[in-house]
Amino acid sequence: MTQATTANLQKLLKERYGNHPPALNLINETIATLLDHRSVRSYTNQPLPAQTLETLVAAAQSAATSSNLQVWSVVAVQDQGRKDRLAALAGNQAHISACPLFLVWIADLSRLQTLGDKNQKAYDGLDYFEMMMVATIDSALAAQNAAVAAESLGLGTVYIGGIRNKPEEVAQELGLPARSFATFGMCVGYPDPALPTGIKPRLPQASVLHHEQYDASVHAKIIADYNASMETFSVEQGMKTSQPWELQSLHRVRGPEALSGRDRLVAALNKLGFDMK
Ligand SMILES: Cc1cc2nc3c(=O)[nH]c(=O)nc-3n(C[C@H](O)[C@H](O)[C@H](O)COP(=O)(O)O)c2cc1C
Repeated sequence: MTQATTANLQKLLKERYGNHPPALNLINETIATLLDHRSVRSYTNQPLPAQTLETLVAAAQSAATSSNLQVWSVVAVQDQGRKDRLAALAGNQAHISACPLFLVWIADLSRLQTLGDKNQKAYDGLDYFEMMMVATIDSALAAQNAAVAAESLGLGTVYIGGIRNKPEEVAQELGLPARSFATFGMCVGYPDPALPTGIKPRLPQASVLHHEQYDASVHAKIIADYNASMETFSVEQGMKTSQPWELQSLHRVRGPEALSGRDRLVAALNKLGFDMK
């Protein structure tokens, strides 16, 4: 856990925002843990303490949930063969095989379908995109609570959106019922100190924080500083920097071919028992 001091806050803000940190002085252990986040993709062999999984799930279940519907679930994967197969399905991401615990967060409308069948009640509302949104938002809020809890215990995590590359195969591997869908995975393990990861800079607050009304004119103006912060970070981390952040990001959305198979997500969801309207 990060020590919550004003000096530490200034260090964390400098790392998070590069040369233009906001002038802030509110700090406590929770805020320090949040500001200290970095994705971790290398782990030691140290096993997780007993009850880690159940503690992370208690944190996840403490997140707010739309209308208290709780339309999410999580599948905890520790079997090496299953982690290896999921790693392959998610684009050969070796950290899935390497982590001691792989959590797959499920947007889960199947529970309400089951309860509807049991009570012989209609559940036509489940077919609308709105409910897919609700389930996806619920699973993301739950997962982020678990991630923060893990980090507060000295563990590292990384989300795995690659789990959406092949939704039907993932659903089969996890035995998911109809109307449930793996939104993303999350590797959990103790960070390998031999391969430390830095705090990745974020956009200046002026790019994301608007007062009263959205100011679209800011985006083009202030991006140069952020490109520079990301370039510095990439050099420090020994990563290849072929082009500025804004061009890398645009490359990622250039067309359906850049979506790693997820351009067919709506078709896949409908095959998994959703019938989105
Ligand atoms: C929903 C989601 C999906 C992600 N998918 C992957 C992934 O498949 N593989 C991976 O290595 N990182 C993945 N990431 C991690 C992001 O790349 C990372 O959060 C981002 O670059 C910011 O870096 P940081 O988390 O270290 O601050 C994902 C993050 C999120 C929120």
